[in-house]
This record gives sequence, structure tokens and C-alpha cells, in this order.
Amino acid sequence: RRMRKDVRILLVGEPKVGKTSLIMSLVSEEFPKVVPYRAEEITIPADVTPEKVPTHIVDYSGTLRPFRLGLKCIELFRCHVLLNKMLCMWFRVPLILVGNKSDLVEHSSMETILPIMNRYSEIETCVECSAKNLKNISELFYYAQKAVLHPTGPLYCPERRD
Ligand code: GTP
Ligand code: MG
Repeated sequence: RRMRKDVRILLVGEPKVGKTSLIMSLVSEEFPKVVPYRAEEITIPADVTPEKVPTHIVDYSGTLRPFRLGLKCIELFRCHVLLNKMLCMWFRVPLILVGNKSDLVEHSSMETILPIMNRYSEIETCVECSAKNLKNISELFYYAQKAVLHPTGPLYCPERRD
């Protein structure tokens, strides 16, 4: 297998799901009360990552915000999403399905998550987390790193570890 010199993790998702908060919680180890629309790109040095590979974390969706303002830009946004889906399929970019804000729900969302996982083979792992109480935050970024470095690994759901 080709040796990786670094890993790039992109956070994509619907507005307000907590992408920026997840990054800020990882970096500062506490829940940020106020977040910008988009976090600056950060690079985690190799020696503090479990797999010893420099890891870039990009708050991806925020980059599209300027395009959302105009009418024409909505079409641009749609094209962008479609293009990204195609790129993911061609290059088999591994996906981690993230259920943030687990602090707000009492029950597990696994029943919702599992059918989605079964439908998209490029989803390597799913994880429930909370930027607010820091549940599974470092784990989430570790799974993403692992999914890139060991993409054929077995499916692993932290909730079903037993
Ligand atoms: P956009 O960049 O606008 O698409 O949003 P985003 O996905 O980056 O979400 P953001 O981090 O701005 O968070 C949106 C709101 O959700 C904020 O009010 C956060 O405080 C809140 N939030 C984020 N994560 C959590 C969480 O784990 N639990 C709870 N209860 N609230 C959260
Ligand atoms: Mg954001």
C-alpha cells in the first residue's frame, strides 16, 4: 500500500450540525460558547496523533457560505455537492458518519444510523459524539485518520464494541 505522508479530514454536513464546534472542542478541549462560521484549517503534528501522521482538519462546508448568498450561487452550491459526491465515489474517499449533539438525545441513534451505513459502502465507521460534553471527540478524529490509513478495515461501531 502507498505510504501516506499526511491525512486530510474534511467536515461536511448540513448547516448548524456542529462542524465548527467539533473542531474547536478538539483543539481547546472545551465546548466553545461562540464559534465562527468556519474554523481555520489546523494541522495536528505527527507526534501527537495515534498513527503518527500529520493530520489536517478542514471545516469544509463553511467555505461555501459566500456562495449561498445569491440566487445563482445556490446552483453553484448544488454543483459543488454533486461534484464532491462523484469525487468520493471515484477515489473512494472513506467517510465517517457522525452523529453530534448526543447530549440532547436520551436514546442511541444507532437505529437511524445503521440503515444509512448499509446503503453506502464508503462509510467506514459511525460515531455518536457531543462537542458539548466532549464525548468521543478525539475518538472521532482518530477514526477518520484510521479510515484513511487503513481503509479496508472492518466496520467498527463504538456503540457496539461488546
Ligand atoms: P454552519 O457552519 O453554520 O454550517 O454550522 P456548524 O455545523 O459549523 O455548527 P456550529 O459549530 O456553528 O454549531 C451550531 C450550533 O450548535 C451552536 O449553537 C453550537 O453551540 C451548537 N452545538 C454544537 N455542537 C453541539 C453539541 O454537541 N451539543 C449541543 N447541545 N449543541 C451543540
Ligand atoms: Mg461552521
